[in-house]
Amino acid sequence: MRALLTKLEQASALDQAGDRLQRTVQATLRPQRVRDLLHGVFIGHPLHPALVQVPVGSWISAAVLDLMPGQRRAATALVGLGTVSALPAAIAGLNDWAALSREQRRVGLVHAAANAVGLTLYAGSLAARLRGRHGTGRALAYLGLGAASAGAYLGGHLAYKQGAQVNQSISELHRIGEGWHPLADMANLPQRKLVTREVDDVSVILYRHGDEVTVMLERCPHQSGPLGEGEVTEIDGHACVVCPWHGSAFRLNGGEVMHGPSGNDQQILPTRVVDGVLEARLP
Ligand code: FES
Repeated sequence: MRALLTKLEQASALDQAGDRLQRTVQATLRPQRVRDLLHGVFIGHPLHPALVQVPVGSWISAAVLDLMPGQRRAATALVGLGTVSALPAAIAGLNDWAALSREQRRVGLVHAAANAVGLTLYAGSLAARLRGRHGTGRALAYLGLGAASAGAYLGGHLAYKQGAQVNQSISELHRIGEGWHPLADMANLPQRKLVTREVDDVSVILYRHGDEVTVMLERCPHQSGPLGEGEVTEIDGHACVVCPWHGSAFRLNGGEVMHGPSGNDQQILPTRVVDGVLEARLP
């Protein structure tokens, strides 16, 4: 299975279809606000994994009820709920997928295809049940569960092996030692300019506004882009750093993500000034 997944990650034959779908998704989900909503910017975490809980839970529950006598109506209701709720989950997933790296998009394409097959089978199951053909509805639902399970397996590979939409910077905290670390003389720290420094080999950015200084991990939580090379811009009245790779924006006075494709906030380090020297430590 591992060899098969590695082959899938390297399957360049999928790129033509993937590139076409990526262009379609990007052209369709155009307003930034819609994209941000679907990325989960408003909750500071990716939305897709949360949304999939509803169809997965409904379909698994329906599969259990289908094994019990006298549960046809309840099973039909759950298949209906799962089928309807799969649509927003799929749209959020497509929105995340369009901003993944090429290797991730290959696996994501097959993940989406397996789930599309599962969704189609469940839609057929719902139609059959509503016409009173419960035997056919049950059979289609179990086939749908098989396809959706294959999709979920690939989704797990995407997240846990390939790190899709997982915070790429947070593990850097493990490389920072305990205690306060000196970073810069306040006297030499320019106003409203990004400055890059290192804390125990971990790159951080410093941003001074008056006497307030933000110290933030430099690696973008989306795909490790160098925030130190990004622009500072104002969004909704807040100074934000914009990642130079795909445009995710993070508040410099808190780290909250303001625009995706990152669905994760960026980590800020606590600071203090001792004898004119700026210091930072682990949160
Ligand atoms: S690496 Fe993609 S937005 Fe920063």
